[in-house]
Amino acid sequence: MAGKVIPIPPFDCVVFGGCGDLAERKLIPALYHRQCTGQFTEPSRIIGSSRSSITSEEYRHFAGQAIEAHVNREDVDSSQVRCFLERLSYIPVDVTSSNGWDKLKEEIEKTSVKVRAFYLAVSPALFGDIAMQLGANSLITPDTRIIVEKPIGRDLSTACVLNNRLGTFFSENQIFRIDHYLGKETVQNLMALRFANALYEPLWNSNHIDNVQITVAESVGLEGRAGYYEHAGALRDMVQNHLLQLLCLVAMEPSAFLDADAVRDEKLKVLRSLAPVNVHNVGEHTIRGQYLAGISAKVPVRSYLEDLGKKKSDTETFVALRTTIANWRWAHTPFYLRTGKRMAERVSEIAVTFKPIPHSIFGRDAGQIIANRLVIRLQPDEGVKQWLMVKDPGPGGMRLRHIPLDMSFASTFSGRNPDAYERLLMDVMRGNQTLFMRRDEVEAAWQWTDSILESWEKTQQPIYGYNAGTWGPPRAVSMIKRDRRVWSNLV
Ligand code: BG6
Repeated sequence: MAGKVIPIPPFDCVVFGGCGDLAERKLIPALYHRQCTGQFTEPSRIIGSSRSSITSEEYRHFAGQAIEAHVNREDVDSSQVRCFLERLSYIPVDVTSSNGWDKLKEEIEKTSVKVRAFYLAVSPALFGDIAMQLGANSLITPDTRIIVEKPIGRDLSTACVLNNRLGTFFSENQIFRIDHYLGKETVQNLMALRFANALYEPLWNSNHIDNVQITVAESVGLEGRAGYYEHAGALRDMVQNHLLQLLCLVAMEPSAFLDADAVRDEKLKVLRSLAPVNVHNVGEHTIRGQYLAGISAKVPVRSYLEDLGKKKSDTETFVALRTTIANWRWAHTPFYLRTGKRMAERVSEIAVTFKPIPHSIFGRDAGQIIANRLVIRLQPDEGVKQWLMVKDPGPGGMRLRHIPLDMSFASTFSGRNPDAYERLLMDVMRGNQTLFMRRDEVEAAWQWTDSILESWEKTQQPIYGYNAGTWGPPRAVSMIKRDRRVWSNLV
């Protein structure tokens, strides 16, 4: 089914780090796709910027190559590409000094376009300086927005410093903190599933749900980001943001309407209700792992230490943890989170397991009655499966089987599944912050993550090795087994 295209107002989008990896792989292709849908209103412009002193012509060449490399061949239309490249220009700016800002201002002020979006596709160390220069050069108008990527700090105090710095120049409704998981179609579908269907809501609580598992497993390793990753680790890189955002969407109360602050208020309540981890329970509730050499996607791969070129590292590439949400809805339902690099498969999913039936009327021959499970697959093969017990057809008495009611999005909806950045970029231009993290959410997530980081440090929590291409250290299995449960894909 083709989507309805709602045009966005004309915009100027300035991409700092315009020649970088994010711009090449995600931002340029996303903007190109949205132009092709006819969503842009003229005159909309994209201005690349970085330290490199290249010309606008050279930048257009770079963007053309990015489209060729990262857009599917069948979506590359030469007249669309030409039109897209015409809206591009390039201004070299050294964001750490005052060089280039006057030229950027001149370029921006060539038109009277109101919406200005400054995308900071650069190191977070530069966020504050750029915000300050934008202010000093009078580039911030009421319709100006700033877009920042994670990491927003590496703990609560550094996040507060960064948020304060941004807040000196921008008001909160101008700051768009990206968590690209929130732009994924299936993640938004989670809201549709919960709040556009009456079916699940009466069951959506600890009276009926036994446990929730959120897995974001990656088969890739460091992908050239060793420097960043070694200082972050899986907890900061994935749990503090993506996994906690997913947990919020599963656990939040329905907001009164789909308004940015109404939704984010509800998510914030969940974050603030997470039971803090402490030195007494950290060993029981969290497992850290680091990948060893192994076989991933049938290819032998090196260990984390070899990838890093170091003899020792205290950084986790895997984390599994158990948490609870201290409120009436969820008080007795554990949430298990798990993420890692170089795992057996690339799979992100949320598995909601319901309580078993209280009594079976079937005899032993019927087979085991397995509890219902709702599995929301975020990637790959996006879709939803509701696992149910049914009768095996045909003779042979009442034999029961556990099978899924399967709604694969690929087979239900035709057409391309848009990348998260497409939706998020258009929301920035519209000024819709629903899918962006508010300052208090980021800080509440850090507050809880800090309780784990501090407890790890104080207790010298060990890091267990796991072979690349597996589901993580065996201890992660023991952790959940202690609660008489198993990880959902290991059933
Ligand atoms: C990023 C992390 O935020 O998300 C990466 O920094 C990770 O380490 C990536 O690989 C995963 O995103 P996706 O969309 O590929 O699941």
